[in-house]
Amino acid sequence: MCALLEVKNVSRHFSKRIIRFSDKKKESFAAVKEVSFSLDSGETLGLVGESGSGKTTVANLILRLLEPDQGQIFFNGEDITRLHGYKQLYPIRRSIQAVFQNSGTSLDPHMTLGEIITEPLRNYHLPTKRQAEESLELVGLPPEWTKRKPHQLSGGQRQRVSIARAMILKPSLLILDEATSNLDVITASQIIALMQRLHEEINTAILFISHDISAVDKLCTKKAVMQNGGIVETLCKLDLDEAKHPYTKRLIESKMSVSL
Ligand SMILES: Nc1ncnc2c1ncn2[C@@H]1O[C@H](COP(=O)(O)OP(=O)(O)O)[C@@H](O)[C@H]1O
Ligand SMILES: [Mg+2]
Repeated sequence: MCALLEVKNVSRHFSKRIIRFSDKKKESFAAVKEVSFSLDSGETLGLVGESGSGKTTVANLILRLLEPDQGQIFFNGEDITRLHGYKQLYPIRRSIQAVFQNSGTSLDPHMTLGEIITEPLRNYHLPTKRQAEESLELVGLPPEWTKRKPHQLSGGQRQRVSIARAMILKPSLLILDEATSNLDVITASQIIALMQRLHEEINTAILFISHDISAVDKLCTKKAVMQNGGIVETLCKLDLDEAKHPYTKRLIESKMSVSL
């Protein structure tokens, strides 16, 4: 059986403008270089690494928001890098959902929570009856809040709404990109606990991207470490005994010194 997601030797360059002695020159650099990993159905993979290491670019490549310069991405055995445009990507977008760091703050202020959560169902012409209430309950919010607007919610509650919206289509893959990074420590750990519960109940595969390695350790069984656009190491536990790469060791040590 094939993996749910297989990222094969994917690279993506961006151009950077160098201004030197008023001489403007364009150079490119690899934000993601030759990245490969796979994720099985229901599996949880953490992607860790410092800011700028290429994590969000990997997410955007999988979500087909960016084109790779090289490599292929297979979803359920289909090479999705060959799909282009709204029509071809429509079925894939139903199965791969994402929650970003700013998802909670970018909810449409004019829409009610009920409308926000059920919008993906309407996009796929699916019934919406009782769905908003059930989804609110699923993410630990009162079901009677369907008529509320986003400004009436706290940051953590808004992020729960984003998760409810992302989960309403029961995607086989959920990408969480720094989804807890804007939240205070207690709210962030509540969201991690919610994700653990949803993962157990619904068995969605999760790609959890974060610079917070303790959050990744809690939620994910497998961890891939990114540095300068490449994956330097994949391991089961982010601890000093298991880590082989010096960069992974440095990451773990820096986490330890912060939590002391
Ligand atoms: N659209 C873009 N244009 C140019 N450079 C970009 C773009 N997106 C990301 N980058 C650069 O690519 C590198 C990796 O960025 P990113 O994937 O956002 O890293 P991370 O999510 O790990 O912080 C960074 O140097 C960033 O500045
Ligand atoms: Mg990022």
